[in-house]
Amino acid sequence: MSIAVAIDGPVGAGKSTIAKECANRLGFIYVDTGAMYRGIGLYCVRNGIGTRDGAAVEDALSQIKIEITLQDGTQHIILNGADVSEEIRLPEISMAASDVSAIPAVRAFLLDLQRGFADNNNVIMDGRDIGTVVLPDAEVKIYLTAGDEIRAKRRYDELVAKGKVVKYEDVLADLRQRDYNDMHRETAPLKQAEDAVLADTSELDFDGSVTLIENIIKSKAGM
Ligand code: DC
Repeated sequence: MSIAVAIDGPVGAGKSTIAKECANRLGFIYVDTGAMYRGIGLYCVRNGIGTRDGAAVEDALSQIKIEITLQDGTQHIILNGADVSEEIRLPEISMAASDVSAIPAVRAFLLDLQRGFADNNNVIMDGRDIGTVVLPDAEVKIYLTAGDEIRAKRRYDELVAKGKVVKYEDVLADLRQRDYNDMHRETAPLKQAEDAVLADTSELDFDGSVTLIENIIKSKAGM
């Protein structure tokens, strides 16, 4: 039987970097579901489709093919045959992804793809609704969070390290807006599943966070 680990939480909680490292250590496949919403957001931005226009985005879905491949253990996202793993990380695509993720047809469109990964693999899947909607029977559910100013500071430091010119206040405002959208939409809003373990990394560095999550997984999955 395969083991599924669901990790949900707000923007910038470190879900993807922590989940990826835990997956490496445990030999699990890591699946980043946010990248799929980003792929749809990117398609809409490129094609001039309003990301809040539910009917237009729903119409566009028939033109969109999202595939996930693993290359050297790293997830790549393929949009209509082209690798867009870099482009989906652009800051303007973050809000587009949050916008399209509120559209029920978009969520339904991605659900089978997401569930398919957990059918025959040990997975760590991260997102906003993994423990509540995508994998409600996951053996391990974690709600990963940290204070919003701490998350914004980490994100700001990452952007500055990449040579980006940004203001901390803008990063914080963007993060709060995206959290608000993700928590208040009608379909599959971000919330802690009743049976999820709360992991707050406000006081932890990266190594400490990975150790915390790894220990939760091992103890819940009986490894
Ligand atoms: O994790 P991320 O920042 O790459 O996700 C981008 C957006 O996609 C996020 O603002 C909300 C949405 N999302 C979602 O609604 N459900 C998921 N399971 C994953 C992401």
